[in-house]
Amino acid sequence: MTNPATDQRVPLLGAEPRLTFPSGFRWGTATAAYQIEGAVAEDGRTPSIWDTFSHTPGRVVEGHTGDVACDHYRRYADDVRLMAELGLTAYRFSIAWPRVQPGGRGPANQAGLDFYRRLVDDLLEHGIEPWATLYHWDLPQELEDAGGWPERDTAERFAEYAALTHDALGDRVRNWTTLNEPWCSAFLGYGSGVHAPGRSDGAASVRAAHHLMLGHGLAVQAMREARPENNFAVTLNLYAVSPATDSEADADAARRIDGLSNRIFLDPLLRGEYPEDIRADLREVSDFRHVRDGDLATIATPLSMLGINYYSRHVVAAPEPGADGTDQPGDATWPGSESVRFVTRGLPVTDMDWEIDAPGLDETLRRVHRDYTDVPLYITENGAAFVDKLVGDEVDDPDRSAFIDAHLRACHDAISAGVPLRGYFLWSLLDNFEWAWGYTKRFGITYVDFSSQRRIPKSSARWYADVIRHNGLAA
Ligand code: NOJ
Repeated sequence: MTNPATDQRVPLLGAEPRLTFPSGFRWGTATAAYQIEGAVAEDGRTPSIWDTFSHTPGRVVEGHTGDVACDHYRRYADDVRLMAELGLTAYRFSIAWPRVQPGGRGPANQAGLDFYRRLVDDLLEHGIEPWATLYHWDLPQELEDAGGWPERDTAERFAEYAALTHDALGDRVRNWTTLNEPWCSAFLGYGSGVHAPGRSDGAASVRAAHHLMLGHGLAVQAMREARPENNFAVTLNLYAVSPATDSEADADAARRIDGLSNRIFLDPLLRGEYPEDIRADLREVSDFRHVRDGDLATIATPLSMLGINYYSRHVVAAPEPGADGTDQPGDATWPGSESVRFVTRGLPVTDMDWEIDAPGLDETLRRVHRDYTDVPLYITENGAAFVDKLVGDEVDDPDRSAFIDAHLRACHDAISAGVPLRGYFLWSLLDNFEWAWGYTKRFGITYVDFSSQRRIPKSSARWYADVIRHNGLAA
């Protein structure tokens, strides 16, 4: 298959003219602990909400779990070698809270920390800069049993975990991300319930969003005090949002969804306030009385950089007269989103059914820089699931290369417009456990045969390595 947008196979670069990225631009891939590590009961790790959730019948497609995943806990050295072969200059991974601080309280577990120390040292030896994310959704189950993110105490616990992890690894890891996609943790975890812990309680999800951000702010403060020279970020999943038509009703639906997906995190984190219109839209869900004096100042603790995960655009419309509920393809509603319709435009989609909209990435980057912040920006995730077929020893996935190519062009456009975008982390290094979709969706540039754990770089991996080698794209 070919680039759905141009019907052309994306070329390797050769001696052609190039679209070059700034020198020092980070070229990475990203992964997350529960999605790749396996070894869920090894070396003192305790269960997280995703162990519980994935072992609950009906929650994950085909009953898949992260028990083994890519067995990266044991095979990390092979995976680092793979990264070195690709020429990656940076690697974003997450640290499993229940490995490092079992149960979410008390002292650090040395064996858990040692795993990450080995991983980090191996990366450094191969010239790959480690980028650590502290929370990629694996809350220790004990903390969920005590109420989870809707409870304020979880924010305090998170800051303590961040500080002890950073104390142990902050001498060799310079770049720290507190949370990955708090929108998902709050609204898929506690609102729609399609992610762990699987609760459907609108009020709880709004409290969770607040306490996630509070935990982030407290964590940055604690880590920065220990090592002010390190860089601290949060990663948000941001969407381009547009109205389906130029009607006032559709414009209002777009305002609402932009608010509930983007501004509900951007505004507290970068401006120290909740958007008034969103507080009003959520008035029947939450009275916001969980917000205490001083919280917003903590949440807005200055960032050294901001991570953005970009996958697609939301195109939204007012509900059809008389209709009830949303019709977002393949997704569930979250508080406040029930009163809009998600519209598809007939663009090519990935295997997640997400429409491919690369210009939305440029738009998102410019918007964040223009409206919110001057700090360096990083694309901490972008990538695509496609149906990959292993033929002999090869996986040819030109659609994925085309997807990445289009999004890198959008990054280049943003940089040319003055956006301080400093790096791009492709999701993902390996096919892995895609949350509620289990292993049925493949995002990797490396194919994983889950029965043998064999890794087979796809043609997109070779293409990406070529981009990295040239620090750019064919013009
Ligand atoms: C966002 C998440 O951070 C990651 O865990 C997930 O696998 C990808 N997007 C793809 O859905």
